[in-house]
Formats: sequence, structure tokens, C-alpha cells
Amino acid sequence: MNSRRDFLKQMSGAALVASVVPSTFDWATPQAGGQTIDMPGEDGMIVRSFRFVDLETPVEYFNTWLTPVPHFFVRNHMHEPAELNSEDWRLTVGGEVEKPVTLSLAEISKMETHAVVNTLECAGNGRSLHRPQVPGVQWGKGAVSTARFSGPLLRDILQRAGVKSTGKHVMFRGLDEVPGKVPPFIRSIPIEKAMDSDTLIATHMNGAPLTKHHGFPARALVPGWVGAASIKWLTEIKVLETEFSGNFMSPAYRFPNQPVKPGDSVKPEDTHPLTGLSVKSVISGPSDGSNVKAGTLHVHGVAWAGEAEVVKVEISTDGGAAWNAAKLGHEQAHYAWRLWSYEWKTKAGDYTVLSRATDSQGRIQPATAVWNPSGYLYNAPDQVKIHVA
Ligand code: MTE
Repeated sequence: MNSRRDFLKQMSGAALVASVVPSTFDWATPQAGGQTIDMPGEDGMIVRSFRFVDLETPVEYFNTWLTPVPHFFVRNHMHEPAELNSEDWRLTVGGEVEKPVTLSLAEISKMETHAVVNTLECAGNGRSLHRPQVPGVQWGKGAVSTARFSGPLLRDILQRAGVKSTGKHVMFRGLDEVPGKVPPFIRSIPIEKAMDSDTLIATHMNGAPLTKHHGFPARALVPGWVGAASIKWLTEIKVLETEFSGNFMSPAYRFPNQPVKPGDSVKPEDTHPLTGLSVKSVISGPSDGSNVKAGTLHVHGVAWAGEAEVVKVEISTDGGAAWNAAKLGHEQAHYAWRLWSYEWKTKAGDYTVLSRATDSQGRIQPATAVWNPSGYLYNAPDQVKIHVA
């Protein structure tokens, strides 16, 4: 596993330490009493990029319904804001509204709070598994995690400003530090999803204030949708007549309207913006390449389906010929993954164990993921190779 410590050893580079360390390590959140918060990479996270902090959760950590915050994956397109002060921070709401408003963190904290347990998955999770391979952060299986997010409803904040009938999309702007000519991370969601009774301006995660990696002091939380919809370090909400047009709406985060021949390019006009997540499962144990003794083997993992519910997880121990139902964990919530487990009576041999999930919309993980030029939404059945002695 490529942990942060291994990575730093490999790099042996003063240049790396000088250029990267100050922005990512010397950070303290005022709400955490001014303590410096350790980089989650210390805790066995897989570092996919140091430049902008992209940390993947090892699948072995997926054995609790809620992911502890230090094990929650991190996806940044650019530098995190260097300084964020909860006293000075403001959220503005404008555009197609009757009365633009500006809110402080203290004002937001006084609003009615709503909690949503949400599985957040990066659209590019599993990109490294697509064939042919595509450029971009080479995520393995762990750009996904689950937490209880809480904060006011976006709807309540929008209603304070009064959305005009012309307001059809809601744009979010984060406080990322944009390097050079990189376009800012701004995206929008349709008004229907913005007004949904589960879409939040989250200030807390698993009961504690958001950490900086996850968007302190406030982020959008768009449940069941690709992680890119949930803008961190939120500073501006703008109601628009039309979808926001910017790099992170187009060409980024779009999916072909029709299946594409693997390796082919697609014209932007033949694509649509990504919204809800696909149905998917991951085996968190035993690990790929394990050697185990014959007997009963506890196979376990997680499965999620975006806005739909997971209704079934099946396991195959013969490479996909026969499938047996796994037991679903009792903890569940609309947008959250389900833990699952399967007790497998093993005999000596070499096996490929697969998992596949089915959801309440009748979607089932396809034998082969749908290839697309940006490598989004990989959701073929997961597989691990096991040697039973
Ligand atoms: N918000 C801002 N401001 N900047 C970003 O780079 N990344 C997005 C989203 N929100 C991003 C952002 C993407 S692509 C994902 S998958 C999620 O944040 C990841 O959230 P996390 O880092 O809390 O896991």
C-alpha cells in the first residue's frame, strides 16, 4: 500500500517537502481549538495525489457503516483554502432571488438542523480498472465513504432569499485556491434537487464540525449524487436560469448518451451531466491475494446505489457462474451503503470471489463496466483472488 510515509520515503525530495508540506500539513481549524489536524494519510490512506491531496480509503477499512472521518476519502481538484476563519466566513445567496442574503456561520448554526447518512463516491472511483485505461486520477476501489452529514436544509436557506420562478438551477462556488490558469471549481444542480428535503448545507460530519479536508466550515451535500455535486468550502450560492456553464460542468463530469466503443472519443453535445450514482459493491475482506485455511470463510463488504436502495448482494465463488445471496447488515438509510456478509464453506483451491449488487430500480452491476472517455462510474462486480490451503 502506498501510504504517505512510504511516499515521502520514495520521494526523498526536499523540493517536495518544501512545496507541498506547508499547504497541507500546517493547518489548524479554529473550531477544533486551534490544534493541528494530522493528515489522514498518516493513517494508512492511499495517496493518489499529493499536489492537491487526493486520498483513497483502503477497502479493508470498509467494515463499519459510518466511516471514521480520518478514513474518509479526500478528493481535491486544487489547493485547499490556506486560511479559513469561522468568524470571517460568509455565505452569500444571490442570483434569481427576491432578496439576496449573506449568512455568517453563527446564523447558519441557529437554523434547524437536518441529518443525512450519505455514501459519497467520487465519479472517478475505479477509474484505474477501466480498459482501455483513461487519464485522470487513477483511483482504485476506495474513493467512496459514508458519514452522517448534518446542517440546515439548502431549501431553508434558499427560501430566506425567496427563489424567483425564473430560478431553475443552483450554483455553488467553493473557496479553493486556484493555481495558475485552472478554472475555478464551480458547479450547479437543478432546482428540484436543490429543494429536496435531504439536500443540505452541511456543517458537521459524524457529529463533529467538518474538517478542512472535507469542506470546513460548510459544504453542499447532494445525497446520492456523484461527489462532485457536493461543493466544499462553500462561499456562494447563486440561483440561475440555466445550468452553470464552466469546465466542471462541461466537459468534466459528463457521460455519453449512447454506449461508446472502448477507446473512442465522444462529442460534448452527445453527453449529459452526471447526477445519481450507479449500483455497486466492494469486497472489503478477505483481501485480494489472501491465503486462508480451509473452513468457513467470512466474506464481507459494502454495497450502495446512489438515490436507490440496495435490495440484494450476491457472491460468486466460481468466477461468476453461480451466485449466492449475501446477508445484508441491519444498518440502513436512504442514501447510505449497506454492509453485507457471506459465510463460505471453503475447500482447498484457487478461487476468484465476486460480489454484485441489485437495487430497488432493478439495476444490477453489469459483467463489464460501461467504458467512457473520462472513466466515470466504474461498477463491474468486484473481485478478489483467494488461495485456500
Ligand atoms: N469542492 C470543492 N470546492 N473543490 C473540490 O475539488 N471536489 C469534489 C467535491 N467537492 C471538490 C469539491 C469531488 S470531485 C468530490 S468526489 C468530493 O468533493 C469529495 O469530497 P471529500 O473530499 O469530502 O471526500
